Amino acid sequence: MRLAHRVDMSPLTRLPVSNDHVRLGMMMEYYSQRACVPGTLLISEGTFISELDRGVPNVPGIYNEQQIEAGRQVTDAIHRKGSYIFCQLWVPGRGAIRGFAKAKGMSIYSSSAIPLHAGEVALRELTAEEIQGKIDNHIQAAKNAMAAGFDGIELHGANGYLIDQFTQDACNRRGDIYGGSIENRSRRAIGPQRAGIRLSQWSTYNGMRMRDPVPQFSDLIGRLSELGIAYLHLIGARATGIEDAERPPGPFETLKFAYDLWKGPLLVGGGFTAESARQLVDVEFPDKNIVVMFGRS
Ligand SMILES: Cc1cc2nc3c(=O)[nH]c(=O)nc-3n(C[C@H](O)[C@H](O)[C@H](O)COP(=O)(O)O)c2cc1C
Repeated sequence: MRLAHRVDMSPLTRLPVSNDHVRLGMMMEYYSQRACVPGTLLISEGTFISELDRGVPNVPGIYNEQQIEAGRQVTDAIHRKGSYIFCQLWVPGRGAIRGFAKAKGMSIYSSSAIPLHAGEVALRELTAEEIQGKIDNHIQAAKNAMAAGFDGIELHGANGYLIDQFTQDACNRRGDIYGGSIENRSRRAIGPQRAGIRLSQWSTYNGMRMRDPVPQFSDLIGRLSELGIAYLHLIGARATGIEDAERPPGPFETLKFAYDLWKGPLLVGGGFTAESARQLVDVEFPDKNIVVMFGRS
């Protein structure tokens, strides 16, 4: 995919979606407006991968025929504008909305039974067999996204959701092959050319921010760079979750360590303005293949 410029759209959950997790017609218009400059890349809002891995009402899914068909209407509209869209695959894990999960008979799970909210008990640790099930669900959802005409998928590995809950020891206290060391917390398998991943190493959102994220995320990014995936999508320290960070980034909270490790295309978002975007791509890193992602603006 050849992008025409360096300003693209961050994934934004906006909820114009039916109670059955099917994208509604107005989404075609919403996304095609944002795709109107040919050669623009959009990342879709977080999209659920299976019936049992939901967690928020009115978020789209990509696990049944109706959802695939509705997804195709959106991707067709974007392709007609000459632009591209990746589908962000999202599993909330312990970030699920409790009342919703309960009403739907779903349990709340995570890498370890470390509650997000103090005093919470109804949270369980996934077994190794269940982890394999989640991997399989991601694979099926990625295939469904292709069937719906998406140009690729982005794993939502940011903002304290399930993948981040495995990456960071703020939540992952496992003693098996999926925890206990940097290498084990990085353990994962994804297919390359049409897959990207989004990470938020500095964010405190959803109870994240391990004490020193650099060794963990360096290991992960190093492994990802060997897989030849489409891109690495990073969120800088100016934003946390869906807002600006409460304090300005500290002197060590830069993305430099990641830029040094990653040779391929980079998407970088979080609290950018036109001016700071220009500064990043033209002044600080003119030799890097960077696209700046905008959410709220
Ligand atoms: C309403 C809203 C919904 C969001 N939904 C998602 C989402 O589904 N997936 C995701 O990775 N980030 C999501 N984010 C985070 C944004 O992608 C982005 O990282 C954040 O807004 C900071 O960037 P900005 O300063 O350009 O807005 C959301 C943010 C907002 C404000």
